[in-house]
Amino acid sequence: MDNRELRMDNHWLPFTPNRSFRKDPRVLVGADGMHFTTHDGRQVIDGISSLWCVGAGHNRKPINEAIKKQLDTLDYATAFQFGNDQAFKAAEMIAAMAPGDLNRVLFCNSGSEAADTAIKVALAYHRARGEGHRNVFIGRERGYHGVGLGGMSVGGIPANRKVYGAAMMPRVDHMRFIHDPVNQAYIHHQEPVWQEDILLELENRILPLHDPSNVAAVIVEPIAGSAGWYIPPKGYLKRLREICDKHGILLVFDEVITGFGRLGTNFAADFYGVVPDMLTFAKCVTNGVIPLGGVICRDKLYDAMMKTDAPEHVIEFFHGYTYSGHPVACAAAIATIDLCNKEGLYPRAAEMGKVLGDAFHSTFKGLPNVIGIRSLGLAAAVELAPIAGSPGKRAYDIFVDCFKKGSLVRPAGDVLVIAPPYVVEKSHIDQLVNTLADSVKAHA
Ligand SMILES: Cc1ncc(COP(=O)(O)O)c(C=O)c1O
Repeated sequence: MDNRELRMDNHWLPFTPNRSFRKDPRVLVGADGMHFTTHDGRQVIDGISSLWCVGAGHNRKPINEAIKKQLDTLDYATAFQFGNDQAFKAAEMIAAMAPGDLNRVLFCNSGSEAADTAIKVALAYHRARGEGHRNVFIGRERGYHGVGLGGMSVGGIPANRKVYGAAMMPRVDHMRFIHDPVNQAYIHHQEPVWQEDILLELENRILPLHDPSNVAAVIVEPIAGSAGWYIPPKGYLKRLREICDKHGILLVFDEVITGFGRLGTNFAADFYGVVPDMLTFAKCVTNGVIPLGGVICRDKLYDAMMKTDAPEHVIEFFHGYTYSGHPVACAAAIATIDLCNKEGLYPRAAEMGKVLGDAFHSTFKGLPNVIGIRSLGLAAAVELAPIAGSPGKRAYDIFVDCFKKGSLVRPAGDVLVIAPPYVVEKSHIDQLVNTLADSVKAHA
């Protein structure tokens, strides 16, 4: 297909510079395994699991077959006042995978909806327990929790927030970011040990400012994914758990990226040995094939909401989406989880993560403009010094260049991230890393 055959007047692309895209479009028309086919017939290796979604690789027959079968059996069913067998089964599997008593799954369709759902559960839970005054939320600088008004408010990526001040939730504060560019620029498959206790700020400034008794929840990504794969200090999440427990504050892990295998475990909660009160997920749960997201809640949240004086015909939680627990999406989730188990893909992610991390550190260290390298799980990031006065331009140009050379990598500010499907082979990693390294040199 030629560019001139593409009609691009109507599709307004998300999180994309539409003006420059139209001049030099990147259009994907096919995918199989580790590769895309572009509209001009090229093969491009998917180095970012298509935005952290496609853990099992593209075009996996067991998932496709499960979807086709479900379409012929129960294509869709109204979600309110009804359940469907696939949703019950998927929820059971997901709860069984989650640690502790994270047992109650509220389905939605995306990570953004999951974040907003978690915020609403927190408010409703506290109110059900007679603590409706708990309405302060604490996120973290450079956190990403999607684009809903709730997730955006607790999120901390400046460009995403800049224009929407008037629509932002009130009573939200942010902890400082988890990056030390001086002492912790290079993180090679270990948890960085900080001399400083970064959570003293929460204990000694943020909580006293709002009074801990007013705080509903703290929400964090265990690893800051969208910002550019920033790894928390050793012990950070455990200590966050302790602080939240001390003050009756709910802890929410946004595991939209880290959930379902990226760190080699079911969830980052398992990797770090910390059980949050709510855990949000999306993306890899269905291999990205059909939109599905959700919030896994601890029993105590569900139980508090069920303990109501209202008559039994009254809904306990006025929340849900038309497509909550969509049977086709849930069938895709069941098939994806089964496939990942059968092929041992989460342990494989851990194994290949070491290969990726080693390649990053041995290849990028010392290259022009490289100011940091971070690897953990099956994801690695190289951070570049920005071009003076044009933040983000260097990484964007490198991303475009790599795509032209057959490798899809992800720019985030001036960070470039590679997070391939769990089925990645060493030869793919070599290709991705070498293409990226050549481009980093070419853009010095
Ligand atoms: C941690 C996190 N939360 C939420 C989201 C939003 O998910 P979605 O784009 O499916 O709404 C993302 C997307 O990348 C994410 O990384």
